[in-house]
Amino acid sequence: MNSEEHYRLAAKLIRKSNYTVAFTGSGISAESGIPTFRGSNGLWSKIDPMKVATPEAFHRDPYFVWEWYRLRINKILHTKPNQAHKILAKWEEKDIIKYVITQNVDNLHREAGSKKIIELHGNILRIRCINCTHKEEITKKLDSTVPRCSVCGSIMRPDVVWFGEALDPIILANAFDIARKSDLMLVIGTSAQVYPAAAIPIEAWRNGAKIIEINPEETSISNYAEISFRDKATYALIKIDKELSKL
Ligand code: APR
Repeated sequence: MNSEEHYRLAAKLIRKSNYTVAFTGSGISAESGIPTFRGSNGLWSKIDPMKVATPEAFHRDPYFVWEWYRLRINKILHTKPNQAHKILAKWEEKDIIKYVITQNVDNLHREAGSKKIIELHGNILRIRCINCTHKEEITKKLDSTVPRCSVCGSIMRPDVVWFGEALDPIILANAFDIARKSDLMLVIGTSAQVYPAAAIPIEAWRNGAKIIEINPEETSISNYAEISFRDKATYALIKIDKELSKL
């Protein structure tokens, strides 16, 4: 089968599916200018995650951790969703996909118009008090002070899941439920190295779902995939969307 036929086959699998779910990682946001975590130019090649993305690091030096998050947040505030995010949002609108389960905290699926989103690792544009339950959405650039809770005065932290922290059990259970219901999972832009998130596509596959992967590099998911597109997310999704429109 030549590659053109692979896009046609992917479109046919999506058209035939009753419960398609997208599972995304940082690679889907790469073409919006947001660096991925791993790989040659990844965030973790520039800074040790143990210094900025663990509760211990925050406890040790909240100012240093906030310095790093402030740079990411202020950049993400001005980052736009790309065609890949927009196609997934369009497919949800047309009931072609049921959910987006994402590991990303960059809010770009929501900004692209997706509504049925499971954010496994939280959202970087939301901060929460370390002491009480108060949360706030970030809508404008952060200055260089550490945000304080307007209710109790304690310092706030990014409302994301750090290494060594448990994911919200209800969100995780919901994601696994959706994975089990799916008969087709589009796994887009993830190295599938971080658990428990990486177990979700496997859970879908174990329950009979077909997997379509979109990633310029091979991953551990590639072995489970019906089709593995060695493409960037926008390229493959534009091609598949075009084939879908012919069916
Ligand atoms: N289109 C599709 N995939 C891409 C693109 C692109 N344009 N560019 C890179 N990729 C792929 C890379 O080949 C890689 O496999 O995206 C993947 C990104 O992998 P990671 O950087 O490991 O990101 P992710 O899988 O989302 O990491 C999972 O790890 O650090 C934690 O909490 C963090 O949610 C994150 C989790």
